Amino acid sequence: MKPTAADIDAVCNLVNELCGIYLDTSKDYLIEGRLARLLKTHGCKDYVELSRKARLTPALQTDVVNAITTNETLWFRDTTPFEALKNKIFPELIDAKAGSAFPKRFRIWSAACSTGQEAYSLAMAFADTVPNFESWDLEIYGTDISPSAVQHAQQAVYSELELSRGLSQQHRGAYFVHKGNGWGVNDTLKRRCKFEVRNLLKPLTGVGKFDLIFCRNVAIYFTPADRKRLFIGLAETLNRGGWLFSGSGESLADLGPNWAPKQHCRAVCYQPNGCNGVATLLR
Ligand SMILES: C[S@@+](CC[C@H](N)C(=O)[O-])C[C@H]1O[C@@H](n2cnc3c(N)ncnc32)[C@H](O)[C@@H]1O
Repeated sequence: MKPTAADIDAVCNLVNELCGIYLDTSKDYLIEGRLARLLKTHGCKDYVELSRKARLTPALQTDVVNAITTNETLWFRDTTPFEALKNKIFPELIDAKAGSAFPKRFRIWSAACSTGQEAYSLAMAFADTVPNFESWDLEIYGTDISPSAVQHAQQAVYSELELSRGLSQQHRGAYFVHKGNGWGVNDTLKRRCKFEVRNLLKPLTGVGKFDLIFCRNVAIYFTPADRKRLFIGLAETLNRGGWLFSGSGESLADLGPNWAPKQHCRAVCYQPNGCNGVATLLR
């Protein structure tokens, strides 16, 4: 059913309230393509009624978030950030930790992790780089607003098609096992990764501090003010000297003098809490 102007208005406001995603009026095809099914399931005559009902029904809110979010992702997306991790960032951060209170603890946040490929790619990159990986207290925290995406990440079972998008034969052989009709991430990696539903536009409290944050391909959907608030909030959860990666086309240089882009292995990354790569980690 083609949405009217009132329908589009109601859905845009709802989606913005639920997940901060800013849909403009040109997105009527998206509303129709992704929410038409929910009209039928929830017995609503139009999208205005669906939006009204969703405000009163948490289960319907979840259905709307699952349907409207774009969970496109792949293994080792963009490649260059993972090269920068292996060749510069992991070795330097690990050296810097040698004299710290927790020399073998390493925490990474995959913020807006979708179905988990980014988080598990980070775990594989760490395991590939760090000798004696098993002896590290590595924690990868993956969060996403979409409960169905988070459930997929927690299950960690992927189809042949999903595996074919960016995963090398070498990584498949080393970290995946046959499971049902698909491939499961092996326990060595899986137990390092925990996933939770989290809205990045809500206060980023109770997460602790991280050495590295990937927050890619999500803020493009937010208003400029929300985007700014998000990255400044994320920087506050970084250890001093920690690194932050945004998506390949998402420059953060406009956020202020601490956000000078740094280039490593052709990837752009940020160190908003100082250090310039020097080995000083304060905890
Ligand atoms: C295009 S995917 C990016 C996944 C991964 N970071 C990557 O680059 O491959 C964007 C993800 O952002 C999530 N998302 C959208 N709005 C969000 C919000 N307010 N808080 C947390 N996650 C959100 C979506 O559910 C979706 O899984």
